[in-house]
Amino acid sequence: MKRGYPGSPSNSSASSPPKSRLKYTPKGDADFSNDFVQRVADHYSARTNQTLEEREASPIIHLKKLNNWIKSVLVQQHTEQGDAVLDLACGKGGDLIKWDKAKAGYYVGIDIAEGSMEDCRTRYNGDADHHQRRKKFTFPARLICGDCFELRLDEVLADDAPFDIVSCQFALHYSWSTEARARRALSNISTLLRPGGTFIGTMPDANVIIKKLREGFVLCLSNIFFPMKNNPSKDQIYKS
Ligand SMILES: C[S@@+](CC[C@H](N)C(=O)[O-])C[C@H]1O[C@@H](n2cnc3c(N)ncnc32)[C@H](O)[C@@H]1O
Repeated sequence: MKRGYPGSPSNSSASSPPKSRLKYTPKGDADFSNDFVQRVADHYSARTNQTLEEREASPIIHLKKLNNWIKSVLVQQHTEQGDAVLDLACGKGGDLIKWDKAKAGYYVGIDIAEGSMEDCRTRYNGDADHHQRRKKFTFPARLICGDCFELRLDEVLADDAPFDIVSCQFALHYSWSTEARARRALSNISTLLRPGGTFIGTMPDANVIIKKLREGFVLCLSNIFFPMKNNPSKDQIYKS
């Protein structure tokens, strides 16, 4: 489906700021899931935007660059000019430039973290900090704060579907807190894609992580899900 260049009546224009039409308070199907989902949202919401200097100084800058390169290749390989894109768990909109370079025609981004969606809106509108050195994006966008592994997105996005591409980068694993959420994630993806549309996704390989742990590599992520082990030294602590 090709559509959505500025001026298209069915979509918001690129010059007007995208509005969050939905504010969703996660209601999981179990206490564990509720708590987990809320903690994930809080964790990402609390993360502030880094300056370019801070980003370059990160101990995992090379991993971040590798991740970005992988996403760039996926986006370039699978996007055709004018494609309508659904970006599940879009985060702060770090991939907006990739979709712009690939000449996407319409973009819907959804993420559970309100703070990240604010950053994403700022980035899309081009009025970010002084590091913003580029023109505004050419495609219209709709940015939504919500739980894309709980909501029935075919209802929420009835006016936007179908999509040529659904993307979920470094986030699909968050749907695996319960089987119901994992099924909702897959169902959202398949119902929102047009016939013959493409899903692209990336996620950590659990086997590699477990293997590294068994090999004695002390993996310490300073976030709420990975408690510190064995009093690691400073250089063993990686901020995620
Ligand atoms: C590692 S970040 C990846 C962000 C972005 N896709 C990227 O590649 O830069 C994981 C993202 O998943 C989002 N997320 C986690 N669970 C979610 C859910 N149930 N619904 C929507 N977004 C979720 C987080 O808020 C966070 O922005």
